[in-house]
Amino acid sequence: MEQRILGKDLKVSAVGLGCMGMSHAYGSPADKDEMCRLISQAVDIGYNFLDTAEIYGTSTDPHDNESLVGKALKPYRNKVIISTKFGIRFDENDKNVNHALIPDSRPEVIRKSVEGSLKRLGTDHIDLYYQHRFDPNVPIEEVAGVMADLIKEGKITHWGLSEATEENIRKANAVCPVTAIQNRYSMMARQYEILFPVLEELRIGFVAFSPLANGFLSGKYNENSSFEKGTDYRSVMPQFKAEAVKKNQKLLELLNSLANTKNATPVQISLAWMMCKKPYIVPIPGTRKLDRLIENAGSAEIKLTQKEVTELDKILAEIEMSEVFGGSKIINK
Ligand SMILES: NC(=O)c1ccc[n+]([C@@H]2O[C@H](COP(=O)([O-])OP(=O)(O)OC[C@H]3O[C@@H](n4cnc5c(N)ncnc54)[C@H](OP(=O)(O)O)[C@@H]3O)[C@@H](O)[C@H]2O)c1
Repeated sequence: MEQRILGKDLKVSAVGLGCMGMSHAYGSPADKDEMCRLISQAVDIGYNFLDTAEIYGTSTDPHDNESLVGKALKPYRNKVIISTKFGIRFDENDKNVNHALIPDSRPEVIRKSVEGSLKRLGTDHIDLYYQHRFDPNVPIEEVAGVMADLIKEGKITHWGLSEATEENIRKANAVCPVTAIQNRYSMMARQYEILFPVLEELRIGFVAFSPLANGFLSGKYNENSSFEKGTDYRSVMPQFKAEAVKKNQKLLELLNSLANTKNATPVQISLAWMMCKKPYIVPIPGTRKLDRLIENAGSAEIKLTQKEVTELDKILAEIEMSEVFGGSKIINK
């Protein structure tokens, strides 16, 4: 697969693999052995960039996903870039399927997190370590200082911010150069395009999470789709509601017609659109299925010209669209 550079020197496959949904947020966890096989198939196909987080757990193991990724990547450790995240925990008292998040980036908490992640990932260093959410109780400069220390100690090699704002990017980067941000970005969620100038000025990559609007942009869901209550976040996501599916038909038709002209699939158009927009955008779609893993990797070969991207942007700005999931509630404690 084509490679891209995040920040100054982090070389990753143009499409990464988001591993979260194998353990968390998309219904009961998938079979571990099957997912281990899928991750090794991903490496064979050319994915070398795998994303997880300390917090992606199951009802029986709060850190299941990191352990899964660590186990699956053991034979390939030196061939792959592993990203993981620190700095949030779930509010266990929250009864919603998507529990609220409690940010906690106190230096002593980060120190404990990094040791746990290294152990579960079975590695002596993390290639890209993100602050999962900003903690209003800890200045971002202090977090950046901890990252600089972890880099000096060799425990991490690069760092980044998730759901970053321009202010935090600038403050953080001034203390310890930021390699990438990881923010929500898809045809249905374009609010962070506002960050493109600062990312270009400071040479920081943009890793796009939920690039398929949680799968909705595949067009594989309709008003009859149902999701496991209690474990599947899609059961509460606005884009999957029956009225939203209806409202989004024009968008799905647009994707289908572009897919036909480019001999691609709607998913490939969604991913190619962002990759062709900026050379520093790297989507990390998640899947539990081999055929989709292959399809998503194939999007790196679909080329849209800048003119086509701009025209598409114009249509996207005008076309009728439902609300899209914007993330779980954050509680500041
Ligand atoms: N930093 C953060 O706060 C944050 C938040 C959310 C996610 N993330 C990261 O971003 C990654 C991706 O985000 P996401 O999983 O929320 O959303 P996504 O990648 O937009 O969508 C994932 C969903 O799309 C489906 N899908 C994937 N490829 C498909 C294809 N070719 N055709 C049809 N359906 C397809 C998957 O279903 P199947 O499994 O059935 O294929 C899955 O349900 C996560 O794994 C995680 O690593 C980070």
